[in-house]
Amino acid sequence: MANIITLSVVALCLCAMVHCWGKDGHIITGNLAQEYLSDKAQEMVQDILSKYEGPDGARFKQLGPLAPYADVLRESYPWAVTYHFINVEKDQKGFVPKINCPNLHCLFGAINNYTKIMLDKDSSDFSKGTALMFLTHFFGDLHQPLHVAHKSDKGGNDIKLKLNEDWFTRYKSSNLHHIWDSDMLYQFQRVEEKPNTTHVVDYIKNNLVNKQALDKYGKVDDLIAVSDESLNLSLKVAYKRALDLDLENFPISYYDSVIPTVLNQVMAGGLRLSAWLNYIADEANAGAENHNCVICNVLGRMMSRLNVL
Ligand SMILES: *[C@@H]1O[C@H](CO)[C@@H](O)[C@H](O)[C@H]1NC(C)=O
Ligand SMILES: *[C@@H]1O[C@H](CO)[C@@H](O)[C@H](O)[C@H]1NC(C)=O
Ligand SMILES: *[C@@H]1O[C@H](CO)[C@@H](O)[C@H](O)[C@H]1NC(C)=O
Repeated sequence: MANIITLSVVALCLCAMVHCWGKDGHIITGNLAQEYLSDKAQEMVQDILSKYEGPDGARFKQLGPLAPYADVLRESYPWAVTYHFINVEKDQKGFVPKINCPNLHCLFGAINNYTKIMLDKDSSDFSKGTALMFLTHFFGDLHQPLHVAHKSDKGGNDIKLKLNEDWFTRYKSSNLHHIWDSDMLYQFQRVEEKPNTTHVVDYIKNNLVNKQALDKYGKVDDLIAVSDESLNLSLKVAYKRALDLDLENFPISYYDSVIPTVLNQVMAGGLRLSAWLNYIADEANAGAENHNCVICNVLGRMMSRLNVL
């Protein structure tokens, strides 16, 4: 028993140190998505989760706790590791299928696969649970700007920096990728005295989810444009504003200038994931009659852009 406790503590610490968006970003995205599901989608998610047990025996009732799970399972699904991010070359301004999705082996190929698994009535309970688990995670990652970033510096992982004394995690050696994954949301929780993710979810719901946000993020037409949006933010906000600053004594002014973008991206990921699951639930419940299959159209456009219909 003592050993099990020690091991869990070690595992938790490792997770906090490495990257486990970070764990908070994923949980917040998942919780937000859960709040904006249609009744049909709530039912679908509840049904899938009640029949799903992860490879390590974990069980889930809600999307929030499920969202970071793909990072815990990296070793069980080694081939999926490269789908957590999109590497771009320095001269790229947007997604180029030939470079970023050779033979459909990219995040979008995976999203297509997992969405189809969820739509297929014959998929096993485990397959559907796995598909929901990956979709929930990937929608989060796709919105962390530095997950769509330069290959040459590993999405900011090679841009080392030291947080100055004004950060709660002061004097910490970190890197640009990691502060977007974790430090920024940690700082927000401490500054706003919102020590847990539930409070951040409430903050976003009460302050950021307005009609404009729902109109913009409450639907998904073009998933590849979402990665271009992240790339734009990584170039124009994440890298650009950091590289003007002293990396050896990294100032809190960076946090002040980018935290609105961080919160907006977490919200956008949650609302879009919710929209995606709503489309899937509509289709899973649709009868044989002629109807407009939104999710089929969105996937169809995405796959034709990736060049393989
Ligand atoms: C999608 O599924 C196909 C068929 O099972 C598989 O060959 C392919 O590797 C998968 N692609 C991705 C990106 O997961
Ligand atoms: C987070 O805050 C909520 C609402 O105040 C509370 O119900 C919950 O127990 C807290 N969770 C943790 C892990 O402290
Ligand atoms: C990204 O920025 C480019 C200009 O650099 C612009 O043409 C494009 O519309 C932007 N895309 C998105 C999705 O914001």
